[in-house]
Amino acid sequence: MRLKNKVAIITGGTSGIGKATTLRFAEEGANLVVTGRRSGLGKVVEAECRQRGGQCLFVEADHTKAEDCQRVVDSALREFGRIDILFNNAGIVTKGTADTTSENVWRETLEINVTAVWRMCSLVIPQMKKQGGGVIVNNGSDWSVVAGKNALPYIVSKGAVGMMTKAMAIDYARDNIRVNAVCPGDTFVDRWMEKGYFEGSDPVTLEEAIREASDYIPMGRFGKPEEIANAVLFLASDESAFVTGHLLLVDGGNTAQ
Ligand SMILES: NC(=O)c1ccc[n+]([C@@H]2O[C@H](COP(=O)([O-])OP(=O)(O)OC[C@H]3O[C@@H](n4cnc5c(N)ncnc54)[C@H](OP(=O)(O)O)[C@@H]3O)[C@@H](O)[C@H]2O)c1
Repeated sequence: MRLKNKVAIITGGTSGIGKATTLRFAEEGANLVVTGRRSGLGKVVEAECRQRGGQCLFVEADHTKAEDCQRVVDSALREFGRIDILFNNAGIVTKGTADTTSENVWRETLEINVTAVWRMCSLVIPQMKKQGGGVIVNNGSDWSVVAGKNALPYIVSKGAVGMMTKAMAIDYARDNIRVNAVCPGDTFVDRWMEKGYFEGSDPVTLEEAIREASDYIPMGRFGKPEEIANAVLFLASDESAFVTGHLLLVDGGNTAQ
């Protein structure tokens, strides 16, 4: 029960890494506020948390909208009276090079992957200061530290998440607010089978994913959402009490090459 009596906001908890982290946190005793735009899936997550003995409130929200972000924070305070942990997880994965990325895709990517992260931090930090501290974990990527092909807007956004994490860690260290990022390598989530790896690409079957991963990832497989959730749990819990400004790569050795 590493998060017993802690209140955590998890953005984008309706699927993938956000959902796995929500369920992991519920098992560790956290009280949860989970967000996303797909309310049907949000209600399922709420119910699954309760089955694990955790308290969970789903708040339908689009984090590109300032008023929705404010509503999430207000709901957390109304329901649980405090905010100890913020996991900024909501994000989209977009592709394109400098000359093939449209203005719309560029803006959409930065809005949710960067601006929304800053916005949620700006709303939660004053409350954490009042409480005497808190923990923020941002979801970066292995592309927070290295680049790759044909994903310019996404790579720029995740690079920014990395530097935002370090800058905020320095700004708020004396307020007892730790700020770290989990940086997953390719992690097999349902979205890949529904929509493909990138927004607008072809769906990927499990067999294709297994074949592809064995080519380029030293460990020969993609990550599992639960493995990323465990790393987030470490960064969110007191076990990482002296860790701040850190980008924790969880990538099967991909960036070691
Ligand atoms: N899977 C990977 O290989 C991988 C690798 C590195 C980093 N990541 C990062 O992990 C995070 C989660 O992605 P995932 O792989 O778990 O995929 P996912 O299942 O598609 O999860 C994305 C989550 O973000 C939410 N979201 C997206 N736009 C939103 C918006 N405007 N407002 C509110 N919520 C929004 C989605 O909820 P709704 O659709 O319900 O709004 C969903 O819950 C992302 O930041 C991604 O960049 C993933």
